[in-house]
Amino acid sequence: MVRFTPIEPLATSLEDAVVRARRRRISDLDAIAAASHDPDTLRWLDDTPTDLKARAAGMTRVEEAWRSGHAAPLVIADPATDDPVGLINLQFRSDDVATLAYSVFPARRGHGIAPHAVRLVAGWAFRDLGLTELLLETDEANAASIRVAEKCQFQRIGSRTALNSEGDEYTRLVFATWWRLGCAGDDAGPRGGASGDVVE
Ligand SMILES: CC(C)(COP(=O)(O)OP(=O)(O)OC[C@H]1O[C@@H](n2cnc3c(N)ncnc32)[C@H](O)[C@@H]1OP(=O)(O)O)[C@@H](O)C(=O)NCCC(=O)NCCS
Repeated sequence: MVRFTPIEPLATSLEDAVVRARRRRISDLDAIAAASHDPDTLRWLDDTPTDLKARAAGMTRVEEAWRSGHAAPLVIADPATDDPVGLINLQFRSDDVATLAYSVFPARRGHGIAPHAVRLVAGWAFRDLGLTELLLETDEANAASIRVAEKCQFQRIGSRTALNSEGDEYTRLVFATWWRLGCAGDDAGPRGGASGDVVE
């Protein structure tokens, strides 16, 4: 699945009072690699920890994702220090639809970082990339991620059975939000308000 319309490069970082979403830099890689060993990240994102080889290839993969139209991987940074505090990624299904995936580094959880980042990136995706629908999928047992979907006013549209890396079945809840007709001039985010206006 891919986007055929080129992804407009993120000219400036997306930012509100709580988070900044920006392109990934080589200087982010140590923090990203350290966080990749977090048990919750491994469990809920079904990822593997980033080893040295993967870290070296990391920037190439990220640049290729942007170029090919597969994804727009971004870092969530602290707006005061610019230090990376998490990751957020738009994975394109078509020119109109993308899935959002995110993680916040363990020490920074519980401060609304993910909801703020989701709202910023969703606003950019609708406003500048012309997407009409954003999806968010999460394990039905991932209470923290479900809360993020709820806080950002995504609506639950269904569920599906998936297999994890060990071959065990689990249920993924599917949430969606849509571009609001008639708000093209607004700083539009998902339904219900301006970019960064998160319902906590
Ligand atoms: C899901 C995740 C991104 C949420 O990010 P966040 O910035 O902590 O989001 P919030 O601050 O809005 O907290 C969301 C919920 O996390 C839980 N939470 C609160 N403090 C927490 C902490 N210190 N540690 C873990 N979870 C916490 C609460 O249930 C909270 O909901 P509440 O605000 O209604 O109490 C983060 O927990 C994470 O990175 N988890 C591992 C990766 C993951 O699951 N990604 C999503 C895959 S679909």
